[in-house]
Amino acid sequence: MLTARIAVVVSGGGTNLQALIDAQGRGVLQSGSIALVVADRAGIGAIARAEKAGIPCVTIVRKEAGFEEGVLSAFREHGIDMAVLAGFLGIFSADFIRRFSGPIINIHPALIPSFCGKGFYGLRVHQAALDYGVKVTGATVHYASEVVDGGEIILQKAVDVLPGDTPEILQKRVMEQAEWVILPQAAELVAARIVREKE
Ligand code: GAR
Repeated sequence: MLTARIAVVVSGGGTNLQALIDAQGRGVLQSGSIALVVADRAGIGAIARAEKAGIPCVTIVRKEAGFEEGVLSAFREHGIDMAVLAGFLGIFSADFIRRFSGPIINIHPALIPSFCGKGFYGLRVHQAALDYGVKVTGATVHYASEVVDGGEIILQKAVDVLPGDTPEILQKRVMEQAEWVILPQAAELVAARIVREKE
């Protein structure tokens, strides 16, 4: 079966990458296959997950010059059709987004337009939600655009904030109840569209 070739770009532990790998195993993700993992620094947990799953993985250091060129050429070498930013903590430039011809989707751990944009990443997002006192938060998968966290929304899922939550507790609940559910679903939706266009 024709599938869209997916690159997953990661900066951390890689639990969202794992959710994508598991979804591929279960057939939730079936229109796309994970063909490449790009890690933006050495030694992160996501690399071990990619290796365990037998997925080609390259490390391209984000803090070094030529990062975006390196990612674009890795995408070309591996024939990548779409990219999934799964816990990628950098920001791709408008030039990068223009130059990669396929869709790029991103998971954000809040209900956009709340708690998003520059500086809102990882635990900071959950700290901001707790500081504000919202009773509901969640996760959003959206297309990456030249505006940080500003591209078209694909899927969202709400999660309750509970008394006594710390940023760590809330992050875990948002991951389990929302991120790991909607990221594979959104990847499937976008991959299925690419496959339809290819056929
Ligand atoms: C996830 O919660 C993801 O939503 C968030 O970083 C975490 C990475 O975890 N991404 C952002 O904050 C992007 N603005 P993971 O490496 O275990 O998937």
